[in-house]
Formats: sequence, structure tokens, C-alpha cells
Amino acid sequence: MPEKHVEPKDRSVARSLMRLWPYVKPVRGRLSSAVLIAVLASCLGLVIPLVLKWMVDGPVAARDPGGVWLGALYLLLLGVAEALLFGLRRWVVARPLAGVEASMRAALYRHLQRLPVAFHDRWPSGQLLSRGTTDLMLVRMFLAFPLTFLVVNSSTIVVGFVILLGQEWTLGLVLLVPVVPLMIICSVFEAKYSLVARRAQDQVGDLTTVVEESVLGIRIVKGFGRHRSQALAFSAHAERLRTTELDKARLLAGIWALITTIPELAIGAALVLGTIEVADGGLSAGTLVAFLSTALALRWPVESIGFLLAMSQESASATDRFFEVMDVAEEEETATHGPTGSSGAESGTGGMAFEGVRFRYPDAAPGSAPVLDRIDLRIRPGETMALVGATGSGKTTLTALVPRLHDATSGRITLDGEDITAMPRERLRELVSVAFEEPTLFSASVAENVLMGAEGAGADALRRALSVAQADFVHDLPHGTGTQVGEQGLSLSGGQRQRLALARAVVGRPRFLVLDDPLSALDVHTETLVEAALRSVLRETTAVVVAHRPSTVMLADRVALLSEGRISAVGTHQELLRGNAEYAWLMSGADIPDGEDAFPPGPSPTTDILGSYAPAEEGSSR
Ligand SMILES: Nc1ncnc2c1ncn2[C@@H]1O[C@H](COP(=O)(O)OP(=O)(O)OP(=O)(O)O)[C@@H](O)[C@H]1O
Ligand SMILES: [Mg+2]
Repeated sequence: MPEKHVEPKDRSVARSLMRLWPYVKPVRGRLSSAVLIAVLASCLGLVIPLVLKWMVDGPVAARDPGGVWLGALYLLLLGVAEALLFGLRRWVVARPLAGVEASMRAALYRHLQRLPVAFHDRWPSGQLLSRGTTDLMLVRMFLAFPLTFLVVNSSTIVVGFVILLGQEWTLGLVLLVPVVPLMIICSVFEAKYSLVARRAQDQVGDLTTVVEESVLGIRIVKGFGRHRSQALAFSAHAERLRTTELDKARLLAGIWALITTIPELAIGAALVLGTIEVADGGLSAGTLVAFLSTALALRWPVESIGFLLAMSQESASATDRFFEVMDVAEEEETATHGPTGSSGAESGTGGMAFEGVRFRYPDAAPGSAPVLDRIDLRIRPGETMALVGATGSGKTTLTALVPRLHDATSGRITLDGEDITAMPRERLRELVSVAFEEPTLFSASVAENVLMGAEGAGADALRRALSVAQADFVHDLPHGTGTQVGEQGLSLSGGQRQRLALARAVVGRPRFLVLDDPLSALDVHTETLVEAALRSVLRETTAVVVAHRPSTVMLADRVALLSEGRISAVGTHQELLRGNAEYAWLMSGADIPDGEDAFPPGPSPTTDILGSYAPAEEGSSR
């Protein structure tokens, strides 16, 4: 797990929350007017005790019913005004804050799309999901509620104390006594609460990851009867989260108890002292009534400080979690390492070339050998090169370097002589098209999925691509190419998905084509058909095709053998079969699926093409 647990020392709630400013700035007018309105409403509440004092010392003492009615009317008006102002605050602030949440979420999503593949390799998706949902909701709630009320309540408390001290400063001082211990208690609480709050949020992320994995892997879970162990893993995470939530509740209950009891004691003491003063004639009954009702009116602002602080803590760690992702650098436009990319075509270096390419995964164990050590390979313009190698030898890794899903650690890759790190990514991705091992379809129509491969391609291109990929089955789907597929649509078979992914790769007639084992899920007959159609596409492009099977190799003009991080041999299929023991071994029995061994396909077109395939098999069995 990446830098997940932040050292509590180097974070401050205020500093974390200040980072929200760029998102809050557009609504600052609305937000500050909402705060002002709330301060006004709350201070209006403090006028009520003063009206009471006037009533008790004036009309009540003088037994003047008219005056009492007038006082009651004032109180009613004050109450209504307070309620209206609080309602207004809510109305002023709701829409802009929903906007802030939406803009933060959009920024996060945009950023996630631009983060390098290496980032996504490292971060569990559940962690990202929870940051984009629960954490942002916490932030919005913070802006709507705790932020406003921390300001409102503190100003109410200050104004309230000014009134209290103005009325009877000795009694006011009695109420001020608990302030210092309360402040200490609050800061201790804050430090403890911030740790648990952060832990709870991280645990929500872990829980989300478990749920997500078991939903995505539901077939494995069911196929292997892993319900119980998945459920156990889930409940272990849920239990951990529950414990943390209980810790939070316990802390909150503790501070709540202290924050309510201590002021209550002070008010009790003030009541006793005040009553004695009234009896001695040193204080009017009206002043005591006003004093006590002001003190009582301050109870809520004081008591709420505890959970307002708690909510601020949670929002601060939610903000931290948000910015932990936002702070990761996006893909660089040009690489910062290796020999500087000399742009512009160099003479005689057309096609695709790998020059001394070395690559190690950023998260590989320190000291381990790089996956690709020194790759030197030239693919001539228009040529199709098959890339063959044992499983795990780095074929997929090598193909991922071409569209710059990863950047080579050193060395360079050129397309028609131009260093790929020196060209804008957009152009690179126009030049190069890829079909990955894992054919991924999005929740969209067949046509949308295929046309994703080319900006602005039309119906003709779609038809051609589908026919190259032998994906004409789509015309028999309920809504033809308009049929929704992907997670929320029709489920397609592995081979069907693979053919759509292939169609996506060829739809834009790219200059360079990278296919990672594109035919692995097809039956022999479909494979033959796809190969025949693919041949015409490959004629027009410079291509690398990762191949496990001799039949796929036959598509290529030459073959490169990847072994121990190097291209150990390049030649035609025949040459390598005869001259390279590892190649002969890879292409013979060892890599033919069990099924084919058990049921030889007979004189199928695949074996016909192979022709001289048999001698190699004999060679390897010696
Ligand atoms: N994201 C990653 N982070 C770290 N190591 C990785 C990553 N992806 C692959 N590897 C490692 O790199 C090596 C090469 O993997 P790669 O997927 O390129 O092999 P491959 O030749 O495509 O294999 P296959 O024929 O099974 O598809 C493997 O040892 C693998 O463990
Ligand atoms: Mg692979």
C-alpha cells in the first residue's frame, strides 16, 4: 500500500483544509454570506435574554400587562427572524457546495485518467473509489456545516461572553473558569481523533477493494466455492472498521460528556452566587434572568464544539486522502531520462526500432534483474515482426513501451526515426494502435467500443474493421452494432471480445500496430479466418505481433525471440526452427495446449500452413 498512513506530526487540520481553497474559491461569496447570515441569526438569539431582562425589570415588576404583551411580541419576532435566517443560510449554500463536490470529483477523475499505468499498478482501486466518493462527501459536509458553525459558534460564544461580562462581570468570570481546561481537553481529543478518523477512512478503502474484487471475480469465487473464505475476508475487514468506528464513538462520547458537564457545573455555581447577590440586593432579578438565559443560550454553541472538531478532523483527513492522489505527478509529456530524444526523422531509420532498451518496473524488488535488459530490434517499414518468448519473458512489457504505457528506463524507441519520448502523446497514440492480451470492453455499444480506436472514423471503417477481425457475429446481436456490451450490457464470449478488441486496434488503419497475442482465444477455424483477413491489414502497417502459437507466427515476415531480457535471435520462422534450440522448443509440443495434444486437429489449414513444422517437433523430442 502506498504512502497511506501519514505521520500525525507533520499535518495540521488547518493546513490540510486550506488546500481546499482553489475549489472553494469560486463559491467564496456565497459561502461567506452564508456564514455571515448564520452569525447574525445566532447573535439575534442572544438578544432574547436582553428582552427578557427588560420585561422582568420593567413591565413585570410594574405589573403592566400591555408591556408584557409587547415583550412577548418582540420575542416572537426575534424567534421567527432567527429561524428565517438559518433557513436562508441553508438555501444560499446548498447548490454551490454541491458544485464544489462535483468539481473536486471531476478533477480527481480527470487526474486518475492521466496518471501513469505504474500508479494504477500500485494503488488498489477500492482506495481510489472511496476517495472519490465518501471522502468528497465528507468534504462537502464540512464546508456546509462544521466550517460555518465553527465560525458561528465561536463568534456567538465571544459575543455571549461580552454580554455576560457586561451584565455582571463577577458571575461572568465564574463561567470563564472552565475555558482553559476545556481547551486543553479539546486539543488532546483532536490529536487522538485525527488518528482514528484517518484509520477508519483507510479501512473503508480496504473494504471497498475487497467488495470490488469479489464482484469482478465472482466467477472465480463461485467456481471454486470460495464464498465462505471471501465472506470471512470481508467480515475481517468489516470487523476492523467496526472497531475503529467504535473507537471514534467512544472518543466522541468522552469529549461530549466533559464538554457538557464542565460548563453545567459553572452555570450551577453562577446560579447559586447570583441568587445570593439578588437576595443581598446587589443584583436585579431581571439581570440574573438575563444572565442565566444568556449562559443557557451559549450551551449549544459550546457543546457542539466537540463534534464540530471531530467532523473537521475527518474532513481534514479526507482532504489529505484526496490530495495524496492529486499530488501524484501525471504522465510527463516527454521523458526526463535516457538520451535526449532527438526529434525529426533520421535517414534510413524508418519503421520501428528499439535501441538498447532497458526496463524495470518501478515497484520491482530492489536488486532484481530488469525485465528487459538490452533490447535491440529493427522492424522495417511495412514489416510484421512476431515476438516470441517463454511466458513471463517480458513480451507484454515490451509491447507496453511502444504506446508509452511505461517509459523505458534507458535506451530509446523510434518510430520512423522519431524518438517516441520526443513526440506529443496524442500523436504517438494516433500512430500506434494496440490490442492487449486482456480484451477489455466498456459499457457502451459495440460500435462505440470499436470506434474508440480511431477519432472520427465512420461506418465504413467500422464495417471494414469488423470484417478484418471476423467479428461479423455482431450483426446477429439483438441491436446489431448498437448492442450494449461490457459490464452493464450483453456478455460476450472470450473469443468474441478478443475479436472486438482486434477490430478496435485496426479500425484507424494505424501506421504501427502492436498486437499482444490477439488470437489466443479463437478456435482453429475462426483463427484461420481472422489470420487471412489480418494479413491484408498487416501488409499496410509496421507491426509487432506477440505470438505463442506457430499459426500466429506465420502471419509475420520475421520472428524475434525474447529471452532473458534480450532479443536473442531474429530470423524467419524456418531459420529459427532450424537454428535455435529455444525457439524450436517453444514452438513445439511444450507450448501447444493439452487439448490439441489429445485431439490433433487433423489436416486443418493451420497445420497445412506450417508445412515444415513436423521436423522441428521431432528435433525437440530428441
Ligand atoms: N506491473 C508490473 N509490476 C511489476 N512486475 C511486473 C508487472 N507486470 C509484469 N511484471 C513482471 O514482468 C515479467 C514479464 O511480464 P510480462 O507480462 O511482460 O510477460 P509475458 O512475456 O507477456 O508473459 P505471457 O506470455 O505470460 O503473457 C514477469 O516476471 C512479471 O512478473
Ligand atoms: Mg503477456
